[in-house]
Amino acid sequence: MSEINSLKDKLQALQEKALLAFQEAADLQALQTLRVAYLGKKGELTSVLKGVGKLPPQERPVIGQHVNEVKAVLAAALDTAASALAVKEKEQRIAAERLDMTLSGRSAARGSLHPVQQGLQEMTDIFAHMGFTIAEGPEIEDEFHNFDALNIPQEHPARAMHDTFFFEASDEQQAKLLRTHTSPVQIRTMQDCVASGGTPPLAIVAPGRVYRCDYDVTHSPMFHQVEVFKVDKDVSLAHLKGVLQHFLSAYFEKNIEIRLRPHYFPFTEPSAEVDIGCVFCSGKGCRVCKGSGWVEVLGSGMIHPNVLKAVGIDSEVYSGFAFGLGVERLVMLKHGIPDLRLFFENDVRFLRRMGA
Ligand code: PHE
Repeated sequence: MSEINSLKDKLQALQEKALLAFQEAADLQALQTLRVAYLGKKGELTSVLKGVGKLPPQERPVIGQHVNEVKAVLAAALDTAASALAVKEKEQRIAAERLDMTLSGRSAARGSLHPVQQGLQEMTDIFAHMGFTIAEGPEIEDEFHNFDALNIPQEHPARAMHDTFFFEASDEQQAKLLRTHTSPVQIRTMQDCVASGGTPPLAIVAPGRVYRCDYDVTHSPMFHQVEVFKVDKDVSLAHLKGVLQHFLSAYFEKNIEIRLRPHYFPFTEPSAEVDIGCVFCSGKGCRVCKGSGWVEVLGSGMIHPNVLKAVGIDSEVYSGFAFGLGVERLVMLKHGIPDLRLFFENDVRFLRRMGA
């Protein structure tokens, strides 16, 4: 075979081999390797060209043209293969990235009020709807408002029962303390009323934090009370009972039986502890009511004449009722919470379950 024909065959074979290889290239990277292998400076086509030197000069342009044709065919085939692979790779990438629009979204966690705060608001709302005005007093109190004016004089045994946190004070200063109950708000609002030249009627609901040096399953050194009182002409125990009956049924969202049991508080006369028919066993007797069918929920009574006197309200003309309830206790009863300490540990699982 003549030299030129042998070269032509080589070129032909090279072209066929290259076209096949281009078609089979798996990705753009492989195609790039093939481009270098065939068309690169040290590629197969170049090595064929090296044989051209052995040809007689007049044949060289023929082969040169032939080589250029092969080069053009291969370059075009590479471009076609490359754009086909680019399309394929893009499709694969899109398929892999595909978003499933039917998946439900991840919802953002929402906070809620602490269960005690929820209870406090629910209770305050019920009284506000009955016409009571919301009032607040300081948590740091003096002995006059927390004790003396409430008919608990210096040596009264009730002071010892209150487990008071006192602040350190020198002899000349009035001792400051953390209020042990919300009853001092009675004194403050009645004093304000008198000082501004007003007279009863006064109907107040006073929610807030109180403090006692006490800690066990049913006691926390800080807890919440709601104080409610009304002063007017001819206020009687029947009004007290009516307000309690309405409030407790509204709070527990069912008809609640109540019972007033004689008791003693220095600032009320007569005084009564209030029991409700057990909300767990409906009075049949269970662990919560210790088999009695009744649970104690708050302290109450008719405001003692000495309390009215202490703030300058004529106890011959006016009378009043008052009661103070423990917020945590009522929330526990309403929601079946077994341990007071759950309110203060702030375990998010508990808080979430109680979330509004
Ligand atoms: N202040 C009392 C207590 O904390 C509750 C109470 C309030 C009782 C008003 C009677 C009247 O125990």
